[in-house]
Amino acid sequence: MLQEIDYPISVQFDFESGTFDPVKVRTDRCVSDLALMFADKKVVQEIINNGDRLVYEIWYHPFETSKSDMALGVTRILPGKVGAEYHMTKGHIHERDDQPEIYFCIQGEGYLLLQTLDGDFRAERWTPGTISHIPPMWAHRVVNTGNKMLIFVASYHLSAGHDYQPIEEKGFKKLVVETDGKVAFIDNPHW
Ligand code: PA5
Ligand code: NI
Repeated sequence: MLQEIDYPISVQFDFESGTFDPVKVRTDRCVSDLALMFADKKVVQEIINNGDRLVYEIWYHPFETSKSDMALGVTRILPGKVGAEYHMTKGHIHERDDQPEIYFCIQGEGYLLLQTLDGDFRAERWTPGTISHIPPMWAHRVVNTGNKMLIFVASYHLSAGHDYQPIEEKGFKKLVVETDGKVAFIDNPHW
């Protein structure tokens, strides 16, 4: 017997704004939320002292039925840098080690950084239309290296869980920075 939550649901995505309706939860992440992630702590403190700054928004909708738990997330990363480092998501690994994810770049350009706990590292170049599979056991972070908003759609199981601790401790192996007007990958001294 189907319950009310077992019926199909659709949301409407707007390609111009990169938002969808209806949204259940919207989360804003500011420089202060990424204080452990950005490398230039002096610039981080200056931005926070000057009233903080939005780095990205997450628009979220869970789709739970009596037998499943899918989630939809749309992330909108503003263009910008903190010091030399481009705006990026915090980055996390899934709590469950059997849980993958799909990311779909809608607008903007940048990189998807992927890393295992053992230190295998990959960077996938992103342009509008790139769809990336994030296998289980790979931490993931998106970096906006362009001059407009980077927007991507994420689809995953709610039960995957988000673990931020390994990234808070050491970060990713590479920092993505602007050097002489160009995108550069440099070693993370804390890795
Ligand atoms: O579930 C995901 O992987 C995404 O929806 C992310 O949560 C989102 O992009 C924001 O990144 P983070 O969770 O690392 O702050
Ligand atoms: Ni994820």
